[in-house]
Amino acid sequence: MLELTINQKKHSLDADPNMPLLYALRDIAQLTGTKFGCGLGQCGACTVHVDGTPVRSCLTPLAAVTGKAITTIEGLASGEGLHPLQQAWVDNNVPQCGYCQAGQLMSAAALLKQKPSPTDKDIDTYMQGNICRCGTYPRIKKAIKQAAVQMQEVK
Ligand code: FES
Ligand code: FES
Repeated sequence: MLELTINQKKHSLDADPNMPLLYALRDIAQLTGTKFGCGLGQCGACTVHVDGTPVRSCLTPLAAVTGKAITTIEGLASGEGLHPLQQAWVDNNVPQCGYCQAGQLMSAAALLKQKPSPTDKDIDTYMQGNICRCGTYPRIKKAIKQAAVQMQEVK
């Protein structure tokens, strides 16, 4: 049994330590918000946080995350309300097909932790590993900026 802490809840998973975290999240823990895109670390759809750092869960074995705090899109918001980024995503109608968006949000959340007031260039650089086949990049940028302002205001 492997002990994982996912979204502040303890999970005991009967799984191979070499299994990618993404498979355990989706197929065992039934947290299907995190998506399988390329499986090769190249699209960002599977992005989750491990101890606050964004990682590609398709390339992260379970053995590397036992005892660490894993946060998925289901745990991004604290409490009942939406995270400011999620609200900004809604306000700006960011998603098209939606497939990449959980990964986009998790990367955006990590960006705002590092840079609370990111420039366009900061956003382009940080988010470049998250691919969107629907080309929602301009709306993603707008929403990140809106959330950044809002998060500064509530500080
Ligand atoms: S599915 Fe992990 S980076 Fe594409
Ligand atoms: S919204 Fe369709 S891939 Fe990004």
